[in-house]
Amino acid sequence: MAQASHGQAPPTEEELSRARLRLGLEGPVARITISRPERRNAMTGRTWTTLAHIGRTLPDDVRIVVIEGDGDTFSAGIDLGMFSPEGVDGERSVVAGLADGTTTDAELQDYVAGLQEGFLWLRRPDLVTIAAVRGHAIGAGFQLALSCDLRILADDARLCMKEPALGLVPDLTGTKPLVDIVGVNRAIEICLTARRVGAQEARELGLAELVVGVDELSGAVDDVVAALLATDREAATATKALLQQAAGNTLAQQAEAERRAQAARLTALAKGMTGR
Ligand code: CAA
Repeated sequence: MAQASHGQAPPTEEELSRARLRLGLEGPVARITISRPERRNAMTGRTWTTLAHIGRTLPDDVRIVVIEGDGDTFSAGIDLGMFSPEGVDGERSVVAGLADGTTTDAELQDYVAGLQEGFLWLRRPDLVTIAAVRGHAIGAGFQLALSCDLRILADDARLCMKEPALGLVPDLTGTKPLVDIVGVNRAIEICLTARRVGAQEARELGLAELVVGVDELSGAVDDVVAALLATDREAATATKALLQQAAGNTLAQQAEAERRAQAARLTALAKGMTGR
């Protein structure tokens, strides 16, 4: 495995396997595979804390992160066993300590904050993150795909925000990108009906950048990765940062941000030309 970039060691093979993840590093491309096909790639808290660990320790030369599911499902979301008092394979249950009042509201929120870390880093401006989705992306699976910059869907993909139907809310950082993409009204409809949004509709709603046949998914992802890698890294990072702040800025603020970013780019390019 490549060297950790920020002091902390990357997750070991043992830790990845316990989290039902695989990590492949090929130079500037990291491929993260949710690897539990017999349970339709259902995930646990450990999956998300390990995702956060991967994010913290990615080698500095990684520019692209591709997330996919093993087999014909992206992910069936949280392992429903996490809501049973026993938890999953010895991992703490989400509801542990609630019935007897030993878990406080603050502790629960801290716990969820730790899980959210697994999703938040996917927005880093120095990375472009891609969800390659086959089959179901349910609940946390849909939120994981929403946390990525790009969603490339096979035509059998089905996206579903199941949480409200289970008496819960989507809490893994998916509500903001969903509303940003489809608008609040469509987001209410999708979440509160918990219906499955098919690939073609996802494309029409802007939830997918690309929809391809199942057999073409891997090739389509490779093509997009190659195109992204052809762009200068510093320019790509500065542009993603600029685009990410556009919705929250006024036109004047955004124009100022563009000027600032361009001055930095022009200075860097000029230094490169003159060698000074
Ligand atoms: N948790 C645990 N096990 C799951 C699972 C899940 N989320 N999803 C599927 N499995 C298991 C099934 O129990 C089954 O196990 P057995 O072989 O031991 O019976 C195995 O995976 C295969 O599942 P199916 O036979 O159901 O496969 P399918 O292809 O017919 O259907 C599916 C696939 C549509 C994903 C269906 O399994 C399903 O609806 N799963 C539940 C989805 C769900 O409700 N997820 C939680 C969403 S909420 C969330 O993620 C966020 C949150 O924080 C609340």
